[in-house]
Amino acid sequence: VTPRVLLVGAGAVCGLWLPVVARMADAELCALVDLDPARARALLAAHGVEAAVETHVAAALARHRPAIVADLTPPASRRAVDEAAFAAGCDVIAEKPLAGSLDEGRALVGLADAAGRRLVVMQNHRHHPGARALRAAVAAGQLGDVALVAGELHRRVERFERAAAMAHPFLGDMAIHDFDQARHLTGREPERVLVHERNPAGSEFPSGAVAVCTFLMTGGCVFSYRGSWAAGGLETPWFGEWRVDGSRASARWDGAGRPVVETFERHTEAGPQFSRRELEVAPGPNDHPAAVPALIGALAAGEPVDSEARDNLRSLAMVTAAIESAERGQWVEVAGG
Ligand SMILES: NC(=O)c1ccc[n+]([C@@H]2O[C@H](COP(=O)([O-])OP(=O)(O)OC[C@H]3O[C@@H](n4cnc5c(N)ncnc54)[C@H](O)[C@@H]3O)[C@@H](O)[C@H]2O)c1
Repeated sequence: VTPRVLLVGAGAVCGLWLPVVARMADAELCALVDLDPARARALLAAHGVEAAVETHVAAALARHRPAIVADLTPPASRRAVDEAAFAAGCDVIAEKPLAGSLDEGRALVGLADAAGRRLVVMQNHRHHPGARALRAAVAAGQLGDVALVAGELHRRVERFERAAAMAHPFLGDMAIHDFDQARHLTGREPERVLVHERNPAGSEFPSGAVAVCTFLMTGGCVFSYRGSWAAGGLETPWFGEWRVDGSRASARWDGAGRPVVETFERHTEAGPQFSRRELEVAPGPNDHPAAVPALIGALAAGEPVDSEARDNLRSLAMVTAAIESAERGQWVEVAGG
């Protein structure tokens, strides 16, 4: 059956969901909820989409009887929205980050379990066919034993209030995309982290626009990460730029095109010889246009996804441990979820 989908929160990220859900043949947008109905109406008009506008989640759930609720509100509203959705028998897709703290995230997972419903997290960066191809190559052992994953993200981000109000805006809002991607690409889990956080001159945020992080991952793998919202130039794609080094081969992904794998062949008198190939990347959309149908479709079909909230707690734990390390200037253990 075609699932009825209720969108809650008509803010910036809803602008990425609305056009996708509205055009899905196998999902039905039943209403858009926002505390500010004018905001919801303006967003619908901007995308040329017609749907009911509601201002209260519980009333909207009772009136429209959705199967799936997309919680597109900030983490501070997550519990109120998701608890109501579970009580109405809905599965929930929550935007990243799942919660503002690990305890809040665990509580949400507990609520879903108690209600017998599913809670999954939108980690849209997993849904790039280039990232999927790189993950598949790593998982198939094409790189050998993975020793290092290095990622970097450099963007010039205009101050926005939700993040500016945080003590650690980059780590608290952005870093989860790349922390989660490191787990996705390598299949390794985080153990400990050391972070240097800075707010360089020219940053548009009051604090913490830059973070340099070293994670020790399972199996002796190191995840080295440099992230910035205060780039003076040379932005990376939003998906970041990645390198994975294994015992047999290294791979690079520029966050946009096809990953490249280079494999050591032999030493010669002219130096080491490598063979190089580009990975096949499935055609099709990336980001929310890929992720939204994938998550809705999996919930409707009762199929697993790779960003179930219980699993996503490990990525959330990387954020909370990174923040603690930035504050204490020491290595911090990453909780097991
Ligand atoms: N995956 C991505 O690429 C991506 C991009 C941007 C934002 N996000 C995430 O999406 C979430 C929302 O961010 P945003 O930038 O859209 O925020 P926003 O502030 O622009 O919009 C949030 C909207 O939710 C509404 N809202 C809050 N509580 C509500 C409630 N209880 N009931 C109904 N409506 C409520 C607010 O009125 C507001 O209109 C955040 O968690 C953010 O991290 C993800």
